Amino acid sequence: MVAPYQHEPFTDFSVPENKQAMEAALKRVEAEFGKEYPLIIGGERIYTEDRITSFNPANKEEVIGYVSKADQKLAEKAMQVADETFQWWRKSKPEMRADILFRAAAIVRRKKHDFSAHLVKEGGKPWKEADADTAEAIDFMEYYARQILTIKDGESVFNRPNVDNSRFHYIPLGVTLTLSPWNFLFAIMCGTTVAPMVTGNTVLLKPASLTPIIAYKMMEVLEEAGLPNGVINFIPGSGSEIGDYLVDHPRTRLISFTGSREVGTRIYERAAKVQPDQIWLKRVIAEMGGKDTIVVDEDADLELAADSIVNSAFGFSGQKCSACSRVVAHEAIYDTLLKRCVELTEERVNVQDPEDGSTFMGPVIDQGAYDKIMEYIKTGKEEGKLMTGGDGDASTGFFIKPTIFADLDPNATIMQEEIFGPVLGFTKAKSFDKALEIANNTDYGLTGAVITKNRLHIEQAREDFHVGNLYFNRGCTAAIVGYHPFGGFNMSGTDSKAGGPDYLLHHMQGKTTSEML
Ligand code: NAD
Ligand code: ALA
Repeated sequence: MVAPYQHEPFTDFSVPENKQAMEAALKRVEAEFGKEYPLIIGGERIYTEDRITSFNPANKEEVIGYVSKADQKLAEKAMQVADETFQWWRKSKPEMRADILFRAAAIVRRKKHDFSAHLVKEGGKPWKEADADTAEAIDFMEYYARQILTIKDGESVFNRPNVDNSRFHYIPLGVTLTLSPWNFLFAIMCGTTVAPMVTGNTVLLKPASLTPIIAYKMMEVLEEAGLPNGVINFIPGSGSEIGDYLVDHPRTRLISFTGSREVGTRIYERAAKVQPDQIWLKRVIAEMGGKDTIVVDEDADLELAADSIVNSAFGFSGQKCSACSRVVAHEAIYDTLLKRCVELTEERVNVQDPEDGSTFMGPVIDQGAYDKIMEYIKTGKEEGKLMTGGDGDASTGFFIKPTIFADLDPNATIMQEEIFGPVLGFTKAKSFDKALEIANNTDYGLTGAVITKNRLHIEQAREDFHVGNLYFNRGCTAAIVGYHPFGGFNMSGTDSKAGGPDYLLHHMQGKTTSEML
């Protein structure tokens, strides 16, 4: 009997032992800097001359490690291994696959701070954010292991007495290409790799090139937990070289992509083209960006609103698909709320190297992100009124001050495009109806929140605020696996809900067998 699912608790770093444990873990991670990491294809470690260098975004001089890089020849080798392995793995027992995940979760839990410390260095995450990322990776393993046990026997169908005996169950699809982002470098990479694995598919894992080492570390855990060779193949490499090659490959059956709208829509389109020798239509899960709004009503608790807004906008430097990047406030409380958000940002959000446990906000991920965000800040200065922040410093790492713009037109560029950085825009609405209309006026539909004491407005928003994850009287980030199934509408994705009860079914197909009696 498997214990009921419960999410992994977060670490309280104000407890001295926890703080010391994290400091010791950071030292252990630093001692590993500069190591080389190979590809893993069919269990074989393969080192290549061409390598990806993984840097610490808080300190460009610090090289976390060097990771071998797959070219098309190695991607093809990995595909052949995954395709051959699928022939037996598809018949493996779901209980055995679930056990691998239960063991892997236990291994990560035992070395939790080492994983979080690695995320501080490779991802530039403050301790709290790193700890939550590690906890979410554990949660995905624990949750999907339990989910496969609930769906392994299929669903009951009606049988005609003395006529037939029919069954309906789910079988895996085939080789899955997992393409993961750098922002939840452990959790999302892990969830989108183990979901296809536990459902009996084999996997080609191409992690984000900015954060490949954490993916290697997960591979080590899964191997220690008993994952057979060839089931998951670790092939970091360039999106344009091996990404396109594998998306187009006729033996790719499922693509699980999490990342930007630009890349996601391109993959969706390419995957739709049937290639020579391809005998199926590829399935694509594409979870993409967001332009997430918090609506604040005229009767709202403004302290709760400001706290929720500041945390949702500036947690992990706004580099969450769920981050709040727009506030739509009722005109009656607009000025008071704006003032309080600016004060709270200036009081609470310090910007520094996240190796210091007191950091609220670390760097953004790289020079490209820094330049892009600074360009949006320039646009914001033309489109609205700068209330705080507005500058950055990329001399040591990629640090940008938390930035708030006021009095924006709802259709302004910075109110419509995903910035993916610590930039927040405010706009005013004359009524709650108007506020919801503005909240819905982007191409995206990922997360949103409403802060109100008005029950009718809560029910109105439940129906009319069109986002995949809508929260009331809290921020719009920090979904928990199993509690808040996560994924967005419209240009935010293909409507799968990671960490939800039907997520694994996206990795399987239903088969009916019927025997005449
Ligand atoms: P990205 O689109 O640049 O990259 C995502 C992955 O796709 C990476 O592994 C990348 O190497 C790979 N890739 C790039 N080009 C490719 C190609 N031609 N073929 C195949 N793969 C290719 O995204 P990112 O910068 O890593 O992540 C940030 C984006 O992810 C943001 O837009 C954010 O909103 C989004 N995101 C969405 C969710 C969600 O659940 N909806 C969660 C996290 C992040
Ligand atoms: N699951 C992450 C959140 O909710 C993206 O913030």
